[in-house]
Amino acid sequence: IKSYGCQMNVYDAERMADLLAPIGYRMVEEAKDADLLILNTCHIRDKAVEKVYSDLGRLRRIKTSRETSTHPMILAVAGCVAQAEGEEILKRTPYVDIIFGPQTYHKLPEMVARAHRETGTVLETEFPLESKFDHLPKPKARGRYSAFLTVQEGCDKFCTFCVVPYTRGAENSRPTADVISDARSLVAGGVREITLLGQNVNAYHGATPHGTELGLGRLITELAKINGLHRIRYTTSYPAEVDDDLIEAHATVPKLMPYLHLPVQSGSDSILQAMNRRHNIDAYRSLVDQLRHARSDIAFSSDFIVGFPGETDADFQSTLDLVDEIGFISAYSFKYSPRPGTPAAASLGQVPDEIKSQRLKTLQRKLSALQAAFNSTTVGSKLPVLLDGHGRYPGQLVGRSPYMQAVHVSAPTKQLGNIVNLRIEAAHPNSLAASYEGENYRRAIT
Ligand code: SAH
Ligand code: F3S
Repeated sequence: IKSYGCQMNVYDAERMADLLAPIGYRMVEEAKDADLLILNTCHIRDKAVEKVYSDLGRLRRIKTSRETSTHPMILAVAGCVAQAEGEEILKRTPYVDIIFGPQTYHKLPEMVARAHRETGTVLETEFPLESKFDHLPKPKARGRYSAFLTVQEGCDKFCTFCVVPYTRGAENSRPTADVISDARSLVAGGVREITLLGQNVNAYHGATPHGTELGLGRLITELAKINGLHRIRYTTSYPAEVDDDLIEAHATVPKLMPYLHLPVQSGSDSILQAMNRRHNIDAYRSLVDQLRHARSDIAFSSDFIVGFPGETDADFQSTLDLVDEIGFISAYSFKYSPRPGTPAAASLGQVPDEIKSQRLKTLQRKLSALQAAFNSTTVGSKLPVLLDGHGRYPGQLVGRSPYMQAVHVSAPTKQLGNIVNLRIEAAHPNSLAASYEGENYRRAIT
């Protein structure tokens, strides 16, 4: 399985692997060794889509070379390109055996059986009435210390640039008992940090066994009661839907990490309005203030789009000003990519690509400088780091700070899976180097 795009695709790919394990499939590293090859695709920007078609062209050769062997390859396209462009894929790449959307992958074993039986492409892109979550096995820790857990899917916000409401469907929250039971089984398997996922995760409103509903803040409070779970994160949030309970959770739940991805997209009110974002800059500013009041050490990251239709130099300057004002410690930024079928794609006032490129460069330079500056401020301090993997060099471990900074340290392997207070010695643009104080180490959490 090869995944493109967002964290939810990473999560979905694992769940596909879980579904296929009982019928005899296991993951392999190389495309040429795969009996079933799934491209789990992303439709968010044009570039991501073109990548899929070029990968398919390459994979066709491998598939053709195995056609006469005892192990022919089944080629499948999953995810948001499959959902949005099922018919187009059929036309452009008729050698694909299965095309299925993000809401139908629980039927994967059945689709594979059909692909073996039938000629022609199996197409499953209807939004089913049942929830795939009712058909998935319990998630497994797989030796990891940090795991994703989907709690919410879909989006009803219809930002005018975005395909997600069309590809992932309407907002839908998993019942709280299911989420808590999945979290428990991950923790029982050794997971110490869970990132709750949703396209619009703070729209979460899960049904409880008592016939009531819990929002995300209350869900986090419940999850924090699980012994052995040390860190909770969530992504991605829609600013206009951050409610008081969620802000309160940042004040009262120490396990909730002081780092929040809160996409603002633009620093200009008129552009935000044209994007149908339902928050203006004042509202965003006040939200950041409230969150800082709730948890003084909280830091923010964001997504930005430059060159949205109608964006003037002054609008773009407002974005740069907002970046300085909030002091984002990291961010993703993109050139606006017109997506077929979305309202903004048909807007007049499309910005020429050279201007988009220039603006992106300017913005990214500023964001990188802020990130480097934030990394530097941590030098000399101690940060609790969840050590969750081996580094590139012998004896080196890597982990994450509360702010998602990658931290490298020479430390014994027995520290894997622990949260250790490490002294930060040096800051690099994208990572930190720390020292380990031998047996005198203090575990941040025991
Ligand atoms: N809430 C969602 C965000 C959707 S996509 C989630 O994370 O699941 C992630 C980011 O991609 C958006 O925040 C936006 O900055 C960017 N994006 C979405 N559509 C885009 C487009 N048409 N062109 C450029 N960037 C886009
Ligand atoms: Fe996309 Fe806006 Fe929803 S960015 S995912 S339509 S909140």
